[in-house]
Parts: sequence; structure tokens; C-alpha cells
Amino acid sequence: MSTLRDRLRSTPSVTGRAPDWDPAVAPGNPRDLFVEWLLHAIDSGAVEPLAVTLSTADGNGAPDARVVMLKDVTEDFGLEIATGAESAKSSQLAGDPRCAMTFYWPEVARAVRVRGEATRGSREEAAQDFLARHPDARALALTERQSAPMADPAQHAELIAAQRARIEADPKLVSPTWTLWRVNPSQVEFWQGAATRDHLRLRYTCTAGAWQRERLWP
Ligand SMILES: Cc1cc2nc3c(=O)[nH]c(=O)nc-3n(C[C@H](O)[C@H](O)[C@H](O)COP(=O)(O)O)c2cc1C
Repeated sequence: MSTLRDRLRSTPSVTGRAPDWDPAVAPGNPRDLFVEWLLHAIDSGAVEPLAVTLSTADGNGAPDARVVMLKDVTEDFGLEIATGAESAKSSQLAGDPRCAMTFYWPEVARAVRVRGEATRGSREEAAQDFLARHPDARALALTERQSAPMADPAQHAELIAAQRARIEADPKLVSPTWTLWRVNPSQVEFWQGAATRDHLRLRYTCTAGAWQRERLWP
């Protein structure tokens, strides 16, 4: 009888097909390469290409991580995400803005690792993001209790219904706690998998405003 360990050991990994890529001719700025890889993942039909793991540290320095959606990439390479100010991730970023983001696009055997610091967007930017969301997502956000324990699931349905009614009465209603966070990278690693395990890695590090590139051993 096969054990769980056997099952795990016989499950293939890095099965996606990576395109040709020569790190030696990569652009000097990681934003250009990031956008190229992101659009390639989208065009290749990667499932949930905007899903990214955001890692933060809590007040004791203990790590935490969760999946969020990438909302935009600014001209100056700010990676934007949106969430409630009441959430654990927002409290953690407010206490310590240092964070990491991990993208993985299995279909094309590519991953991008980002380390940087988050800054809060303006109220106007948060409002713009909020109003572009589906009414169901807005109703949920208007409860302003993301990550709070749910003591009574029946109360949850009531609260959501009440927020839906508020939105119907005022379609421009914006949650005052909705927050846009912009992660400003200081280090970005591009990883491309190979069936031969001769994976390609290229790391960009920003020092005194200038990006340096270096190849890494797989
Ligand atoms: C695919 C996917 C996308 C998600 N996108 C978001 C998002 O954009 N913003 C968000 O606040 N939570 C998002 N979530 C939920 C988070 O993973 C998490 O459960 C929630 O934000 C609470 O995290 P926190 O308590 O660490 O703040 C997403 C989850 C998944 C699986």
C-alpha cells in the first residue's frame, strides 16, 4: 500500500513549459522584466496569474502570509494590493512595512520573489479601487471586520444584507477602512524552472537608487 509520503514523492513538480529566456540580456530595470513575465503568464492562460502570496511580520516579528490579488503596477514599480485596514495584514504592515511577495505561474514554470516596503495609498486611490469592485465584494468590505472571529454565522448574513441595502441606497458609498497598499521593491528575483533542474535565477537589488543584477545558483 502506498503511503502518503510515496504519493507526495511520486507527484511531479515543475511540470510547466518555460519559454526561451536568456538572463544575460535581461533589462536593467526589474519593472520591465516583471511586466513582461506577468503579461506572458496572462497571455499563456495561467490560472489566477494575479494571485500573489504577501508575507508580513506581526508585532513579535513572527511571519505571516496569505494570498491577495495584484491590482496594478505603477510606473515607478509600486505593486498595489487592496484590503481592509482592520485585517491582520494591514495592522502588520502599519507596524512593520517590510514585506515580501511571491508570484508563481506553474503553467510557464516561472516565479518572482519580491522584498520591499509597503506604503499606504491615498483615500482617493482607495475609494477608486473600492468603487470598481463588484457590489458583493463591496458589501463584504463594508462590514469592516476582515479576519475578526465570526461568532455567529447568522449575524454574518444579516450584516451583509444590511450593507447591500446601504450600497443600493448610495452606490458611491465607500468603506472608510478600505486601503490600497503599494509595495515598493528593493530586491526582485526571477526564477525560471527547467526540466533538467538547471533552473535560471536572476536577482535585482536596489542600492542607493540603482538596480544591480546578479545570477544565482539554482
Ligand atoms: C485567490 C485569492 C485572492 C485573494 N485576494 C484578496 C485580496 O485581494 N485582498 C484581501 O484582503 N484578501 C484576499 N484574499 C483573502 C486572503 O488570502 C486572506 O484570507 C484575508 O485577506 C485575511 O488575511 P489577513 O487576516 O492575514 O489579513 C484572497 C484569497 C485568495 C485565495
